[in-house]
Amino acid sequence: MDLRIAVLPGDGIGVEVVDASMRVLDVVARKFGHKVHAEFADVGWAAIDKHGTALPASTREICQRNSAILFGAVGLPDRDQTLPQKERPERVALLELRKGLFANLRHVLLPPGLASRCPLKMELIKGGIDIMIIRELTGGLYYGQPQGISGASPDRKAIDTLAYSEQEISRILKVGFETARKRRKRLTSVDKANILATSQLWRELATAMGKQYPDVRLEHMYVDNASMQLLRRPSDFDVIVTENTFGDILSDEASMLAGSIGLVPSASLGEPGAPSVPFYEPIHGSAPDIAGQNKANPVATILSVAMMLNYTFGLSKEAAAIEKATFGVLNAGNILTGDLGGKATCSEVTDAVIAGL
Ligand code: IPM
Ligand code: MG
Repeated sequence: MDLRIAVLPGDGIGVEVVDASMRVLDVVARKFGHKVHAEFADVGWAAIDKHGTALPASTREICQRNSAILFGAVGLPDRDQTLPQKERPERVALLELRKGLFANLRHVLLPPGLASRCPLKMELIKGGIDIMIIRELTGGLYYGQPQGISGASPDRKAIDTLAYSEQEISRILKVGFETARKRRKRLTSVDKANILATSQLWRELATAMGKQYPDVRLEHMYVDNASMQLLRRPSDFDVIVTENTFGDILSDEASMLAGSIGLVPSASLGEPGAPSVPFYEPIHGSAPDIAGQNKANPVATILSVAMMLNYTFGLSKEAAAIEKATFGVLNAGNILTGDLGGKATCSEVTDAVIAGL
């Protein structure tokens, strides 16, 4: 199979983790008889410095003509501050590229060999941690209108709008139910239905859809309670489905359960058949403090490549091979990057994963 992918390393450690995962992809492709066609493009500060904008037209074109996007990270906090909010890479590049990709899947899995890296006590994680967070990605506070700051100080006013249509809610709930059906058949729908109108509609639609999935055990949970239960009984969670902002916050919290945010991959998917190009990225950022030093953990990006093989190309055997090799290295525990208490470099971890293939 021809694997046509747009590769956007971006800023900071994005460059080295994307490079590492492309090495893994090349080996897997060769092994299984596929051909990788990778088109590299600039994004973030890497693009501002060359083209004057964080998302040049040339990058958009490259993304549009490929089947998937592999993304590293964008933004450099020191330099971001020199730009108005609206021109910063996270907004110009990340939010733009994610347009149309309403389903954001973030997989939090604690490798058993790394149980001691989980900040929770052993007795709380005995049942293991394997949670798929499904975050709605194109609605809610991030995009709701009106939005902005108006007036003159001291009477300025700021407004963000939280809006969701029935159609937007239903399509993400469906991803939640379908995903739960393929896993341990438990779906936690997270909302704030005691207060928010969007959540009341959300809960009503989730309850109704649940009737079409009698095999899936649906539970509703308020977001504040969910943030507590994630720490109290993490093994009970299978699939979580929630709106954009709640999902942003809960997925960072949950990433710690995996031992490090450097282990959590993600996929952002649109409607089947829609023109939007699926987007794969580690959930961590550009980490400028360790960039360029070969210290970054490549695992989240390597696992994002596995998600890409699964979801975009339907290559589940190839994806499983990457996961097996990667978790093999993590469970062995002797070749780990600094975020996991080890001393290995990004390239050493990558080499170990490749050796395991
Ligand atoms: C994430 C990030 C982004 C988000 C920011 C950088 C806009 O926090 O991918 O979780 O909130 O979606
Ligand atoms: Mg976030």
